[in-house]
Amino acid sequence: MEYPYPIKIRAVWWDNNRVCWIDTSKLPFEEKIYCTDDPERLAKAIITMEIRGAPAIGVAAALGVAAYALKISSTNREEFVKRVEEAIKTLWNTRPTAHNLFWALTRMRNTLKTSIDEELSPTDIAERLRREALEIMDEDIRANIRMGEYGAELVPDNATILTHCNAGALATAAFGTAEGVMRVAWYKGKKIRVIATETRPVLQGARLTVWELMKEGIPVTLITDNMAGYVIRRGMVDLVIVGADRVTREGYVINKIGTYMIALAAKRNNVPFYVAAPTSTIDLNSSIDDVVIEERDPEEVKKVLGRPITLENADALNYAFDITDPDLVTAIITEKGVVKPPYPENLKRIVGSQG
Ligand code: MRU
Repeated sequence: MEYPYPIKIRAVWWDNNRVCWIDTSKLPFEEKIYCTDDPERLAKAIITMEIRGAPAIGVAAALGVAAYALKISSTNREEFVKRVEEAIKTLWNTRPTAHNLFWALTRMRNTLKTSIDEELSPTDIAERLRREALEIMDEDIRANIRMGEYGAELVPDNATILTHCNAGALATAAFGTAEGVMRVAWYKGKKIRVIATETRPVLQGARLTVWELMKEGIPVTLITDNMAGYVIRRGMVDLVIVGADRVTREGYVINKIGTYMIALAAKRNNVPFYVAAPTSTIDLNSSIDDVVIEERDPEEVKKVLGRPITLENADALNYAFDITDPDLVTAIITEKGVVKPPYPENLKRIVGSQG
């Protein structure tokens, strides 16, 4: 595939009829690559965050369904369909918050359904699923580049951008959403700097965002999560750009835990707060009451890089995401354009009809 910008880092890809990924839970200390056509192994990779970031888990799940379908395409039709449906279910039940996972698996399920209606053979259905999954992956990269181009217009020269978590190449098939905006601004010659929050408890900012931006040559400074309010108040931040796991029809943004506090600080200090999210993250069918915020194992909070930081029997809470109100969001950058308030009307107009 040809893209208008260099694709230097890939989080998930297709190789020899298998889905492959770089294990983001080990970066930047180890660069481990795995490939599989086993849905159980892939589900484990998503749950344990070897693969993470809303678009990346959607793309990986789609590729995983295709890889499994190709592997079992010699079984009889009824058995084949049953097993592909089971694989979709296994992947569906991995992480509950990011919309992209359900969006991608719904596309795969719809492809399966139409192929059944057309009475295709298992081999032909598997081939259709392969094409659909590769299309989902390619669309993700193209959407990120388009978002980058729209978003870069909002970035002044010499700007300092604060970001949270990792909404980069390592959270998508490639290129990134928030980091995609930074990449295009940088490639267009804008002299940007980035402030990255470490992102407790699993340190996506410190481990992934810093690694990826340093590889790109974009100046990046790491801060602890607790510093975000102060650096914003000090006037050190010109704009905030984050990604999203889900955007509801009202314009609520669900993203990595800590995003809400950054949005509050940005609003209070008149710093623009942008969200870069492809339309596959926007769910016009979900309202804020439908959103499930993932609660992860408290052990993640009780440790840093696997080392205990508190008493073994201490009580801890581990919400993985939080909710940012629409009135704190200056604009949502999508691959179809920049959406400004009022979000209910404008998201509907730009995202169009969704299934
Ligand atoms: O728990 P994670 O690492 O999967 O959370 C990731 C985020 O919150 C990202 O900001 C979001 O998925 C957008 S990635 C383009």
